[in-house]
Amino acid sequence: MAKIIAISGSLRKASFNTGLIKAVANMFPGQVDVGSIRDIPLYDGDLEASAGIPTAVEVLKDQIAESSGLLVATPEYNNSMPGVLKNATDWLTRPPADIKRVFHGKPVALTGVTPGGLGTALAQSAWLPVFRTLRTRPWFEGRLMISSAGNLFDEQGSLTDQKTQHSLRQFIDGFLQFIEDG
Ligand code: FNR
Repeated sequence: MAKIIAISGSLRKASFNTGLIKAVANMFPGQVDVGSIRDIPLYDGDLEASAGIPTAVEVLKDQIAESSGLLVATPEYNNSMPGVLKNATDWLTRPPADIKRVFHGKPVALTGVTPGGLGTALAQSAWLPVFRTLRTRPWFEGRLMISSAGNLFDEQGSLTDQKTQHSLRQFIDGFLQFIEDG
């Protein structure tokens, strides 16, 4: 059975993007592991040289390497990707000798949620050169961009809107099919 590792690019407690990832985990029990970028420090080459790869990075690298696919829910900041998620991704590529094990050929699905009107379209596009550089296998057939999140999630960040739940299920079903088709 395909197993997805799902990562939110937000550290906010009531994050819409984390709420989306949690909704996926609830919809597909046993098929989704939720990864975390919370304890990943700012990338610093001196820290890497003196202390090596932080445990939180090693854990996430192994989770991605062992998964059959990576799902990323990206917030959009200033029409691009959020720094915390790019920083985590940069750590995940250290040391470079591990990039093959972690990323090469890895099926990747991108989605994102915003309270604004453009559904993280620009943040999702900003990720494309990164996932290409890492030689992943991006899944392009499905596209899920969620706008006006304030109407779709409750105050704790749980996805409550049924239409969005339906779109999300279709999106993940498509990604799982892509993984299984190899
Ligand atoms: C934002 N936000 C935002 N939204 C958007 O649709 N396009 C954008 O360019 C930006 N820019 C932006 C910059 C910065 C610095 C912040 C803090 C926020 C709003 C953003 O979508 C909103 O805060 C979301 O709630 C962030 O996602 P989480 O934390 O709810 O997952």
